[in-house]
Amino acid sequence: MPDLSRRALFALGGAGVALVAVGGCGSVDTFEPSGASGASFSEPPVLVSQNGRLEADLRAAWDVRLTQLDGTVAGYNGSTPGPTLRLRPGDTLGLRLTNALDEPTNLHTHGLHVSPEGNGDNPFRMVMPGETATYEIVVPDDHPAGTFWYHPHHHGLVADQLSAGLYGAIVVVGETEPPVTRERLLMVSDLTLGSDGRPSAPSAQERMRGREGNTVLVNGQVRPRLEVASGATERWRVLNACVSRFLRLRVDGLDVTVIGYDGIPTAPVAVAEIALAPGNRADLLVRGGGETTLRTLAVNRGSLGMMGGTITSPAVTLADVVTARGTPGAATDVARWRPAEPEDLRAVAVDRTRTLSFTMGMGMGMGGMGGMTFGFDGLGFDESRVDQSPSLGDVEEWVVRNTTPMDHPFHLHVWPMQLIEGPGGEAPEPVWRDVVNVPAGAQVRVRIAFRDIGGRTVYHCHILDHEDLGMMGVVQVT
Ligand code: C2O
Ligand code: CU
Ligand code: CU
Repeated sequence: MPDLSRRALFALGGAGVALVAVGGCGSVDTFEPSGASGASFSEPPVLVSQNGRLEADLRAAWDVRLTQLDGTVAGYNGSTPGPTLRLRPGDTLGLRLTNALDEPTNLHTHGLHVSPEGNGDNPFRMVMPGETATYEIVVPDDHPAGTFWYHPHHHGLVADQLSAGLYGAIVVVGETEPPVTRERLLMVSDLTLGSDGRPSAPSAQERMRGREGNTVLVNGQVRPRLEVASGATERWRVLNACVSRFLRLRVDGLDVTVIGYDGIPTAPVAVAEIALAPGNRADLLVRGGGETTLRTLAVNRGSLGMMGGTITSPAVTLADVVTARGTPGAATDVARWRPAEPEDLRAVAVDRTRTLSFTMGMGMGMGGMGGMTFGFDGLGFDESRVDQSPSLGDVEEWVVRNTTPMDHPFHLHVWPMQLIEGPGGEAPEPVWRDVVNVPAGAQVRVRIAFRDIGGRTVYHCHILDHEDLGMMGVVQVT
């Protein structure tokens, strides 16, 4: 199969890459209601910062009904996704997180370039059941404008809590944004509900593969219907909040232009497909007109080697797009919009190079059942060990290798990564990500500016089952 296309697609995010269909069959057990039975599109509530602060209470609890599925899941403030937090560069996010679950949790602001220390974006904090914890997240004045998100990060429970419904979007609004008719958030997640109407626990094998639910949701709904006025230009903020599912999105018949990935603006590029590994986001301009669907194509994400066959994220229809009746939206001119892109690190001297390898091995993990061990460089996660210690102020180049037979999306907290070289070759233009897929057996080269923010945090595989199994390391910048 066209492995190189697949690799180039994931490494470079698919911008402008010519595509050949990847083999792989749709899963037979994926739930897809037929016809236009979906609910009309809805979005979570939006909380907007005022006078430089966004004060919000977030209560994590098992109190969200999914009426379409007759299920009960978890959410923040009774909603899955949780409320969208909308703020500006320079604002402070003041959150009070109440844990109404029966196990520890905490909060991570995925992608934000903010301090990981103290009551900032600190993944080592633990918020016990019944506790309320305060977070102060100070967003720098020069923070990129785009789409970020929040989710729990208590090691060992991240995948369970995310797939239970605990996640929400963070939108950073810039000085200048492209003029659009309207904006939408599309958070894609998946889950499998058991007969009791609650998310069912995956098997040890599913955790090793990375669980994929049998139901895919957009903003907590199965196959919603979006009404797009013909002639309108909409901005879609699309997030892959699935634990392990890879997305290859298409909206045939509509013009789609990418204006940002992972919260970092990019010069507009017309695309036919958008590849999103778990954790990735894309900011899109979508020009309406005509009936179509938003769907994801099948993605081959490798295998467990001797422990099992090919792992495929199946093709699924995510939403129906219909032309809205009534007055067409005003056309807007986005052609001349140019974003503020970050400094190109290809032109910067590298202070230090490191090599990190994703590793999987046979071990006595999984309760002595002889499962696999997941880690970096042969080591599972240990929060008391520092694995990488860059100096504050340095620009580093990291070579991230994947010695395993399956794809692993590499995620670094706090500091975005500029992709220098992927398996498809060198990046022809600046490509920024906070999650970079490293295909099975391949490697990528990224550059990271550890400049204005120091502290101790983590990097990990964003197949969050793998993160929970130990595929995570500690980085300390001083
Ligand atoms: Cu999406 Cu460590 O996080
Ligand atoms: Cu993160
Ligand atoms: Cu992984």
